[in-house]
Amino acid sequence: MSKPNLDVVVFGATSFVGQILTRYLFEQFGVGGELRWAAAGRSGPRLEELRKSLGRGAGKLELQVADAADEASLRQLCAGARVVVSTVGPYALYGEPLVRVCAESGTDYCDLTGEVQWMKRMIDRYEDAALLSGARIVHNCGFDSIPSDLGVHFLQQQARAKFGQPCATVKMRVRSMRGGFSGGTVASLLNVLKEVAADPALRKSLQNPYLLCPAGKVKGVRQPNVSFAEYDADFDAWVAPFIMSAINTRVVHRSNALAGHAYGREFRYDEALLTGRGVRGRLAATATGAGLGAFMLAGSVGPLRAALEKFVLPAPGEGPSPEQQRTGGFDLRFHGRCANGQVIRARVTGDRDPGYGSTAKMLGQAAVCLAQDIPRSRVGGGFWTPATALGDRLIARLEAHSGLKFELLEK
Ligand SMILES: NC(=O)c1ccc[n+]([C@@H]2O[C@H](COP(=O)([O-])OP(=O)(O)OC[C@H]3O[C@@H](n4cnc5c(N)ncnc54)[C@H](OP(=O)(O)O)[C@@H]3O)[C@@H](O)[C@H]2O)c1
Repeated sequence: MSKPNLDVVVFGATSFVGQILTRYLFEQFGVGGELRWAAAGRSGPRLEELRKSLGRGAGKLELQVADAADEASLRQLCAGARVVVSTVGPYALYGEPLVRVCAESGTDYCDLTGEVQWMKRMIDRYEDAALLSGARIVHNCGFDSIPSDLGVHFLQQQARAKFGQPCATVKMRVRSMRGGFSGGTVASLLNVLKEVAADPALRKSLQNPYLLCPAGKVKGVRQPNVSFAEYDADFDAWVAPFIMSAINTRVVHRSNALAGHAYGREFRYDEALLTGRGVRGRLAATATGAGLGAFMLAGSVGPLRAALEKFVLPAPGEGPSPEQQRTGGFDLRFHGRCANGQVIRARVTGDRDPGYGSTAKMLGQAAVCLAQDIPRSRVGGGFWTPATALGDRLIARLEAHSGLKFELLEK
């Protein structure tokens, strides 16, 4: 294979999140500088329009036309790049050919998927090819699941340094989250519910917290799960179910398994939303739990799902306004307890709305980190997680360039 002339190609540059990512890379790296990169998508005119909107200095940004269903165009994309970063979703509908081509051609890949059923299929089908070709495939490089996966990685590192052992139990609690959903995310979520409705066995397998772990490691200790309002004594507050925990917990357990159970074989991890103290906290937790339950139920029933799509939720290409992105942010709290009872706490915060403004910055740095910081001698081919492939190098990049902070807390 000839040497690729680009470090990174953004596939899906004209998607809602792809446009924010392209603007971010342009602002960070310019064109013709230290990072050699290009923007790709299925429509030449839309790519031209995007390039024009970037303003002065973007004229030389390379554009490439490729279609997610046209394997020849994907092969061409992969031949010219060290890393392809894709925002073309729902991934379960459009993502497989690109993962296959990357795995076969030895091209590194990262994306924003949170579609656990699809990731499981991709690992089962293409891990052998990636091992053989040397391609590093890293899903989940957005709000799900970078802050969770790297937050646990950070907390466990601090626990080992302080106590000489990792925490046996870690809880992540969302203290605040300001932002909104895009049509692409909604389409991905509804597609999961549609697949589950069509295949009841899938519902059962998605309930397995170890689903994404390598073969032979898909079982383990019983995991905690906040499925309705409950009081959390470690935070002295009420908590409610967090919609993304069904993704993030699976990724964190895969990280633990890939790292040779660095967090321990008895490691327990769960996520929830903090809703506050007293009666108000309890009412808010109950309302949040009931609202989420109703949404999931509606999304599972064909006609109600169609009505949600048509009348309530944003359409593909739509999402939070630039103002919502700018004023958004998130604050995640981690509480870890070692087997001997010692406790450690940490916080991961981010500026911008989690799903888009911040996600685009995380994804951009993850792609550049994979291209520039992680040699193949250190991380070889295969399906990795953000923590196991990119770990501390990515934390440093996110703190320096993406508005994230990883901090140990005294209390
Ligand atoms: N993990 C996270 O934290 C996180 C956060 C945000 C989004 N996401 C995920 O990221 C994905 C994108 O979200 P979004 O809101 O940006 O979606 P979107 O605006 O609906 O964009 C979807 C993109 O897919 C492209 N596309 C569709 N069919 C294609 C084909 N055959 N060939 C090439 N491109 C094709 C579209 O191209 P055109 O532009 O030409 O129409 C569009 O650019 C979704 O799966 C979403 O769930 C994850």
